[in-house]
Amino acid sequence: MLGSMSQNPSEPVVPAPGGTGQGDGPAPRAPRRGLDRSGPLDLGDKVQLSDAKGRLHTITLKPGGEFHTHRGVLRHDQLIGAEDGTTVTDNHGTPYQALRPLYSDYMLSMPRGAAIIYPKDSAQILMWGDIFPGARVLEAGVGSGGLTTALLRAVGPEGSVHSIERREDFAEVARENVETYFGATHPAWDLTIGDFQDVAPTLAPEGPAVDRVVLDMLAPWECIDAAAEVLVSGGVFLAYVATVTQLSRTAEALRDHGEFTEPSAWESFVRPWHLEGLAVRPEHRMNAHTGFLLTARRTAHGTTAMTRVTRPAPGSRDEAELTHPDNEGFGGGVEEWGPEDIGERGVAPRKIKRALRDIRQGRDR
Ligand SMILES: C[S@@+](CC[C@H](N)C(=O)[O-])C[C@H]1O[C@@H](n2cnc3c(N)ncnc32)[C@H](O)[C@@H]1O
Repeated sequence: MLGSMSQNPSEPVVPAPGGTGQGDGPAPRAPRRGLDRSGPLDLGDKVQLSDAKGRLHTITLKPGGEFHTHRGVLRHDQLIGAEDGTTVTDNHGTPYQALRPLYSDYMLSMPRGAAIIYPKDSAQILMWGDIFPGARVLEAGVGSGGLTTALLRAVGPEGSVHSIERREDFAEVARENVETYFGATHPAWDLTIGDFQDVAPTLAPEGPAVDRVVLDMLAPWECIDAAAEVLVSGGVFLAYVATVTQLSRTAEALRDHGEFTEPSAWESFVRPWHLEGLAVRPEHRMNAHTGFLLTARRTAHGTTAMTRVTRPAPGSRDEAELTHPDNEGFGGGVEEWGPEDIGERGVAPRKIKRALRDIRQGRDR
């Protein structure tokens, strides 16, 4: 398989270097899997230090390592073996709260080539895509690997995630991000370079073998036939798109296919709140739009989906209306789409190089 990573599902994930072995200090309280871990802080751990003003600094604990600011110096030795969440002071008495970063912290700070899916949306994808432990998930595109890490965490060692990405340079960024997160190649992950439409059918030569299809790409409507072929009966199709035009085309393509239940679509807003004494109110700023989610279930193979008895809005399905030049982009037309059509800028090769450099340097910063 092109660009595929060799995997052995029975192999455990390799712990990050500097792991606490048996008999050498307190036992870790959760299995050490890359950045997913708990227990006392240890060599190789990433630690977020926050000062009294809430400014964050991320360091990786090294033997003899030091964290320098204009205020003073903090020795990594002060943290190694300490409880997660401890408070330490530098040589000039400046205090820092030391905590292991959470998964959401990692996701948001992940060096990226393509735009990532934000934690609020990946949380929705895991719930409404019904990603269960042991699920076989097929994903495209992989972009920077943001959603891939979330899917891998959810399916666990018994499941599998197969990611398909058409751009080799994005796949490289994703591979580095995923391996940095898990501390090694993930045993349940495969990555193939190519177009979903071409690759997906080759992955299930003996019949449908995928429980969930998750698409985050420009034109998911082009992938419906391939998704329907590989999804098991009752499987979930989920697409994440940025614009209503993409949403409309995907919904119509699912209906046209005939073997998907009526699609549901929604978007989510997360409004952070300011909490201070009696001044408890929404923050002044929030992220107003990230994307839309759409899900549909695959019906039993060969069974046409029951359709809802509703009267379509006038003009909503009229071919002449959909293809009228004035309605360009609003669900009709067969023209090829580019990222500019949905207001995305292209990603320059220099940005990819920078992302790869940041991931590699970030591993031992
Ligand atoms: C927005 S990015 C995905 C971001 C990713 N979900 C993450 O969280 O990092 C969209 C990706 O889809 C890829 N892509 C677009 N169409 C594709 C197709 N038909 N098959 C495979 N990959 C595709 C693009 O190259 C791009 O990397």
